[in-house]
Amino acid sequence: MTAAHAGVLTVRGLAAGYGPQRVLRDLSLTVPRGAVACLLGPNGAGKTTLLRTVVGAIGAARGSIRYAGRDGGGDIELGGRPPADIVALGVALVPQHRMVFPSLSVRDNLLAGASQRRDRQGIGADLQRMLVRYPALAERQRQRAGTLSGGEQQMLAIARALMSRPALLLMDEPSQGLAPRRVQELSAWIRELAGEGMGILLAEQNAVFASAVADRSYLLQDGKALRLDRGDAGRQDARAAVAGWWEAGAGLPVSAPDAREGG
Ligand SMILES: Nc1ncnc2c1ncn2[C@@H]1O[C@H](COP(=O)(O)OP(=O)(O)O)[C@@H](O)[C@H]1O
Ligand SMILES: [Mg+2]
Repeated sequence: MTAAHAGVLTVRGLAAGYGPQRVLRDLSLTVPRGAVACLLGPNGAGKTTLLRTVVGAIGAARGSIRYAGRDGGGDIELGGRPPADIVALGVALVPQHRMVFPSLSVRDNLLAGASQRRDRQGIGADLQRMLVRYPALAERQRQRAGTLSGGEQQMLAIARALMSRPALLLMDEPSQGLAPRRVQELSAWIRELAGEGMGILLAEQNAVFASAVADRSYLLQDGKALRLDRGDAGRQDARAAVAGWWEAGAGLPVSAPDAREGG
């Protein structure tokens, strides 16, 4: 495979888990540059495990995690590198359940996302861009992040990740708990980022949202990623599996909006 076709992230034959428990087994997927790949799967399938393995929080037992780097430069193996190095290379994770720092201000949360950077002017410019891009954060920049609504905290978690200037953005169930209006905003933002050239790997249970925003999709099943959006018959069982849990509710905008999302 040539670098041009390899995508910003190319995972091959990945195995990872917790101690003796293998969660991922021979998992392969590709995130093209400037595109959104979604990874669908029910609770416990291993979506978070994959994203945490890519950012180096969990060690891989086997396989390769190739990253094409910023500006298409280089082809770098991420496996075995410490998490801080991976962030510095341009990989950012928006963790599940947002995980903003509740007692820090909105502004300090954003600055925390740039902690690997040394270009003070660039950081200041990016901070302004985030506040312009998301005026609700600008209005609340001195407030403690814990006082924001769930939807605002999700936008803050994304903006914080963007402050590291990633070339690859990993998002762990960002639509969880959001009101439908927020999910639409999120879709628009994700498409905008892909349009700017970022590669995005979106782990989701909400198949309606994910398939609307994604350029390609995979189902995580039995520790492997099955490509869903190809015509070959071999993928029909995977599509049937998605339909199965979709019927069971995963495809609906299931998450109950939190109390402050109503207005
Ligand atoms: N820290 C952990 N230690 C041991 N097992 C874990 C840990 N985190 C997750 N698991 C297990 O790994 C499997 C995959 O979990 P996870 O990656 O969180 O799935 P998903 O994000 O798709 O819901 C589950 O069986 C879960 O119980
Ligand atoms: Mg998860």
